[in-house]
Amino acid sequence: MTQRGQQLLDEINLAFPVDRRHILERLATAARRSGLRIALVGGLPREALRCLGGQRPRENLYDELRDIDVVVEGDAIHFARELYRNLPGELVVNEAFGTATLVTEGIAIDLTSSRRESYSAPGQLPEVDTGGVRLEEDLLRRDFSVNAVAVELSPDQGVLLDPLGGEADLRARQVRILHSASFHDDPTRLFRALRYSIRLNAELEPASMAAFHRAIEEDMLDTLSPERVRYELECICREERWHEIWAVMDLAQILPGLHDALGGISSWWTLEQGSSLDIVLRNQREVLEGTELEPWLVRLAWATLSMRDTWFEAAMNRIGIFPRHIRSMQTARHLLISVPERLSSDMPPSGIVDLLEHFPRESVALAMLIHMPVDDRGVSTRRAMLNYLLDYSLVRPELSGHELIRLGIPAGPAVGECHRRLRALRLDGHIVSEEDERNVVMRMVNLGESSADQATTDGD
Ligand code: CTP
Repeated sequence: MTQRGQQLLDEINLAFPVDRRHILERLATAARRSGLRIALVGGLPREALRCLGGQRPRENLYDELRDIDVVVEGDAIHFARELYRNLPGELVVNEAFGTATLVTEGIAIDLTSSRRESYSAPGQLPEVDTGGVRLEEDLLRRDFSVNAVAVELSPDQGVLLDPLGGEADLRARQVRILHSASFHDDPTRLFRALRYSIRLNAELEPASMAAFHRAIEEDMLDTLSPERVRYELECICREERWHEIWAVMDLAQILPGLHDALGGISSWWTLEQGSSLDIVLRNQREVLEGTELEPWLVRLAWATLSMRDTWFEAAMNRIGIFPRHIRSMQTARHLLISVPERLSSDMPPSGIVDLLEHFPRESVALAMLIHMPVDDRGVSTRRAMLNYLLDYSLVRPELSGHELIRLGIPAGPAVGECHRRLRALRLDGHIVSEEDERNVVMRMVNLGESSADQATTDGD
């Protein structure tokens, strides 16, 4: 045990909700039982050190945790099975990678055998050797010193492993790679470097900065598959200061390095506008319910709104966005170009429905969220889309098609037309009950060719 290590473990315990602290105990118990040395590594010790250093509050640490990374000196899969016996959850084992994930109480515990990694080519996944690798050596293969900090849980509980000066770098607010080929080996670290710089309010350390630029100049981004790029962008778009990271990615030539058309997009928006998007996303969470859109994707659609249509699909393909999401984004962009001039919340609701119902609901939701009003008219356009999503699009006449036919509407297209008209009358408040609907239909039938609009007008 080291004093700092014990402080760190105490801090981690305090950051865990009381009803989750057993997770740490069970990890230590399973390690003792299986005779393996294990340590917490990566995000959890890093964030806890930041708490100790007064750089962040402890209160939201657990909620913000994406996973608990545990490194096992030896067989992580054997350890995972031992843990699983005392910590119920869902266990997924990846024999090929020597890793396992146990999801328990809503949090994922990622278990990895300590390893040595070598890269045969930039951008490819590493070759892994797990034979006889000490925890200390495992830390050397990692991305940045601030992520190469571990605290042992067993057998020497409370020993801090910080061979590369991660805590000192956190204090100095610098992100430092561990060897000069780091970005070449794994160019996803180019994204991660910027993500952590912004999250930790840190600078890239000078030699790391030089290596960063070298990797960009030598086109290392080209070696990354679209899937790996998407994962990094998704992580970035989930960050609290995601818009700042986008702006820095643009300046640092990552965006144009991915695709020419992504270069310069951050000059089209301001950080304040990005924060406004987050407010809309928070306040209007319900419009995303039932859609496939997640907030990170909405942020991406917003950040890329200024791109020319000509290049949009190619650029989205390069960054690994799924085709169905690209289509939703394209439709939302098309909607924002073609409709807003004609759309305002002062219009009768039926007119708003007429304009929007031809678009998939998901695209209207996306358009509403990413629309950036610059004046009252824009605000009114957004309100019209919101009203459509939350209210107007849900309005239906009470009478079914069968009932319309029973009342005398001829079977066929006339039924749909009648339904549409009843809905318009309901939307605009001319009728409010099933009885009103019956009266309108009776009048339509009596008037023969006359429309429902006329039927109510005559009756008013
Ligand atoms: N890691 C790495 N190189 C990568 C990705 C990850 O060395 N390209 C290592 C780092 O030590 C990192 C750990 O794996 O800390 C876990 O990665 P991840 O779960 O992605 O990040 P966290 O550190 O947990 O941080 P956060 O989730 O807060 O971003």
